[in-house]
Amino acid sequence: RWTTSSIVDEQVARIREQVGDGKAICGLSGGVDSAVAAALVQRAIGDRLTCVFVDHGLLRAGERAQVERDFVAATGVKLVTVDARERFLDALAGVTDPERKRKIIGREFIRVFEQAERDLKAEGDYGFLVQGTLYPDVVESGGGTGAANIKSHHNVGGLPDDLQFTLVEPLRALFKDEVRRVGTELGLPETIVQRQPFPGPGLGIRIIGEVTAERLEVLRKADAIAREELTTAGLDRQIWQCPVVLLADVRSVGVQGDGRTYGHPVVLRPVSSEDAMTADWTRLPYDVLERISTRITNEVDEVNRVVLDVTSKPPGTIEWE
Ligand code: XMP
Repeated sequence: RWTTSSIVDEQVARIREQVGDGKAICGLSGGVDSAVAAALVQRAIGDRLTCVFVDHGLLRAGERAQVERDFVAATGVKLVTVDARERFLDALAGVTDPERKRKIIGREFIRVFEQAERDLKAEGDYGFLVQGTLYPDVVESGGGTGAANIKSHHNVGGLPDDLQFTLVEPLRALFKDEVRRVGTELGLPETIVQRQPFPGPGLGIRIIGEVTAERLEVLRKADAIAREELTTAGLDRQIWQCPVVLLADVRSVGVQGDGRTYGHPVVLRPVSSEDAMTADWTRLPYDVLERISTRITNEVDEVNRVVLDVTSKPPGTIEWE
């Protein structure tokens, strides 16, 4: 029977053995997985780890500040932030196919890290790349089990062939709840450990249609409102996550004040789950749904309709893309 502290001890020993005297880079996504992976590696090899945070412009409101402030305060880790917003928007221009989006975002991520590595080479040879890949990511990307490839997960499927790092994946055998316990064991704050999952490709796979700066801004506002209301209602622990999805190529007619509107719908996708392999749609209280709907349609000009996704997984996946 594995205890959380034995998982930590075992992984720390393994990381030390794998990395030896080498240096590692860890990409922080803002999520719990990469934060816990980084904290484990930090414990194993100390300041031979440098964390790189890529602002790919597909982040939610406030996320960059949370990584730069909270995570660094908790771990004292060495952090480099790369502003790659333009680069990702350029790479995604005109792309609507979900798998292509995922592959492009995964590929650009690795390239940005490789550039960061070249920049860091002046200080020493960073040969290892830390990733927060979890067991469900491995299974769903078909890694090692022969399972069908449902979606190319950002952490697994999008790696280019010319990858010049050895991967360190200390969470590869763990489910989400175990990762959270490991994070707590490592002294990470609640805000990081209990953070709901957020996909590596970020808001890029929550805009149905082409990803543009304007659409990202619209989705970011709607998403921030939904998150704020769910938190205020004390529902964060009850739901696994609640993606907010912008149907950017769909318009519908509405009326507001004296005027006709012709705006976009957003979809609320609240789900309950143990491990994201299966999920049920969460029966949110009507008053909370009402507040989210009213605020989004009042505060986000481009959105005139809020709809609720009542599909379980299967048959739906949690994310729309
Ligand atoms: P799906 O949409 O496959 O999502 O039901 C299952 C869980 O995984 C998250 N997700 C991702 N996480 N990289 C990640 O790290 C990804 O590319 C990715 N795609 C989906 C999703 O938010 C859900 O929690």
